[in-house]
Order: sequence, then C-alpha cells, then structure tokens
Amino acid sequence: MIFTVAIDGPAAAGKGTISRAVAARFGFAHLDTGLLYRAVGAKGGDPVAAARGLTEADLARDDLRTLAAGQAASKVAAVPAVRAALVEFQRRFARRNGGAVLDGRDIGTVICPDAAVKLYVTASPETRAHRRWLELGGDAAQVLAEVLERDARDMGRADAPLRPAEDAVVLDTTDMTIDAAVARAVAVIDARLAARGQG
Ligand code: CDP
Repeated sequence: MIFTVAIDGPAAAGKGTISRAVAARFGFAHLDTGLLYRAVGAKGGDPVAAARGLTEADLARDDLRTLAAGQAASKVAAVPAVRAALVEFQRRFARRNGGAVLDGRDIGTVICPDAAVKLYVTASPETRAHRRWLELGGDAAQVLAEVLERDARDMGRADAPLRPAEDAVVLDTTDMTIDAAVARAVAVIDARLAARGQG
C-alpha cells in the first residue's frame, strides 16, 4: 500500500512529535526532512556538493538539533540546487510500500502534491518559541528572535516557500495539548484510510 502523509509547518509547531506518534500508530515509516537540511548546513563548505553527497553518517551527527544548526539549515534550504538535490530521495521515501509520514516545509506543496493526507501544523510564534526554549534552554528572547527570523526566511524564499497546501487540514496547536493534536491527526488519517477502503 502506498499512503503518504505530508506534515508541514513552521519551527516547533509540533510537527515532529505528531509525525512520530502517527507513524507509530499506523506502522508507517517516518522521515524528518528537516534533518536533511540541517545535515547539509552542518557540513559546511559548498552546500550543493554537501546535498548531493549526503551520507547516513551526516544524518547521524549529534549536533543537528541546536539553534545554530536550525539557522544554517534554513540558509542552505533557500538554495534551489540544494532543494533539487534532495527531491528524489524524499519522493522515493514517500512512495515506499506500507505507508510513509514526511514532515517538513514543502512536503504537501512540492515534494508530494498528491499525498493522501496533508496537515499544516502551526501555533503562535510565542508558543513555539516557548516550546523550543523548554527543549533547548538558553535565552528566551533570543530563542523567539531566532524562531521569527527562521519563519521569515522560510516563508519569504522564492523556491518552495513555507505555506499550507490548498487542500491541507490546518492544525493550530497553540491551545492544544500534544495528545489532542495527535488525536486530531489520527482522526484525519483514519477518515482518509476509510474513504480508500483501507481503514
Ligand atoms: O524542527 P524545526 O521545525 O525547528 O526545523 P526543521 O524541520 O528541522 O527544519 C530546519 C530548516 O530546514 C527549516 O527552517 C527550513 O528552512 C528547512 N527545511 C526546508 O526548507 N524544507 C523542509 N522540507 C524541511 C526543512
């Protein structure tokens, strides 16, 4: 069965947590596509060469979750040739047998425009910055500034800007517990599977 779930949204909206929970619930494979851009940014040097030569070891680095790695990722992610180098890998993953969840910024709009389910997970910048601060610590005002800077860069870039696909279900998690957000996502997927006769 090919069944792709596309989950997009800005930094720290809850995409990762929802994606992991949904993948576990339905037995789908999960790809955090942000990790690809973080690994390219962390490699340094020519980002296009880094994207073309990305290895498992690059993705296994333990410094990819930092604020600095997030900023570096969003800079290399604005380079069209970097994005182009990563498209095929993501599309192959999306079409793997048994179902796949991909989370990122352009999954429903560019990578998998035909995904069975598209979710756009968002929350207010203050809420997202607070969640990132709980996760990483540091100076709260700086965390908010970095979230806003990355939002602006990701939404403002010319190639594959962050925006909800027209047919995406928008999930605003500002006032939602993570359990409630996961339950909503599961309900949307259940409905789609049932409509396909696979529920
Ligand atoms: O975890 P968080 O939401 O903070 O970030 P991420 O998903 O790991 O993505 C890091 C950066 O990679 C984003 O700010 C985007 O600039 C870029 N990215 C992208 O352009 N397209 C994707 N499909 C995923 C990430």
